[in-house]
Amino acid sequence: MLLNVEHLKVEFHDYTVPFAAVEDFSLSMGEGEMVGIVGESGSGKSMTAHALMGLVRRAQVAISGKALFDGSDLLAMSRSQLRRYQGKELSIIFQEPMTSLNPTMKIGRQVEDALRIHTRLTTQQRRQRALEAMALAGLPDGEKLYGCYPHQLSGGMRQRVMIAAALVLHPRLLIADEPTTALDVTIQAQILDTLKEINRREGTAILFISHDLGVVKALCQRVVVMRHGLIVEEGTIDQVFYHPREEYTRQLIAARPTRRKLRGGVEHG
Ligand SMILES: Nc1ncnc2c1ncn2[C@@H]1O[C@H](COP(=O)(O)OP(=O)(O)OP(=O)(O)O)[C@@H](O)[C@H]1O
Ligand SMILES: [Mg+2]
Repeated sequence: MLLNVEHLKVEFHDYTVPFAAVEDFSLSMGEGEMVGIVGESGSGKSMTAHALMGLVRRAQVAISGKALFDGSDLLAMSRSQLRRYQGKELSIIFQEPMTSLNPTMKIGRQVEDALRIHTRLTTQQRRQRALEAMALAGLPDGEKLYGCYPHQLSGGMRQRVMIAAALVLHPRLLIADEPTTALDVTIQAQILDTLKEINRREGTAILFISHDLGVVKALCQRVVVMRHGLIVEEGTIDQVFYHPREEYTRQLIAARPTRRKLRGGVEHG
């Protein structure tokens, strides 16, 4: 098993009453597997991802449970132990590439970030690896983009830069937190194709987060449905999409914009 999460709980103690953004989350993922997490806004999808990546570690947040990555518990690691995994063994890409890229730093340097942290490659070797990662992420003209700043790129290209940066060290697990939600439908489909291709070529396992079950269906083999920090249903895409057991899942499926609605301009997120 590549990832084995058992009873993850993330509880905020900022207020008088503790608030569990994630109540009880468990998931097993094999090497190279693509699994989706869906659920309405606020259901705890991002918080689950961030907790696994070690991004919500602070005094006011109590995290319990286990998250075994290749047998080692990500939740129990010290910060310095965890840093050896972040960006190398597991990476995350976020919903809004403009806010996760540094606007004042050139594209090439940002793609190389993990190489600077984890390797002792020369400048030339880093550049080479960055260009390879960009090509893998669907940016074949990396040479031209290398010296550009994020604002000079389209939204779709910026997201591809994020993907390249996340993949530059060939992690075994990529967590993609709504990576296409901010993009229009055509670009969204192209990015999904790129992720599929990365999975096929590199064997990268992908944990794909979306509020849109249809997007997850296009990419993943299995899906977990979350609500209020809990798992309400899980199974293969076919089971969950075509034979949902829970009313909540049915509502999520029904809430998908159909093609006709999209043409009518009622596009949601
Ligand atoms: N820093 C924080 N402190 C306290 N509560 C938070 C914090 N960040 C998020 N939350 C709450 O945790 C819950 C889960 O949030 P989370 O961001 O995981 O939802 P989500 O499923 O990713 O939603 P979306 O689809 O909108 O991205 C929400 O109720 C949110 O308000
Ligand atoms: Mg989220």
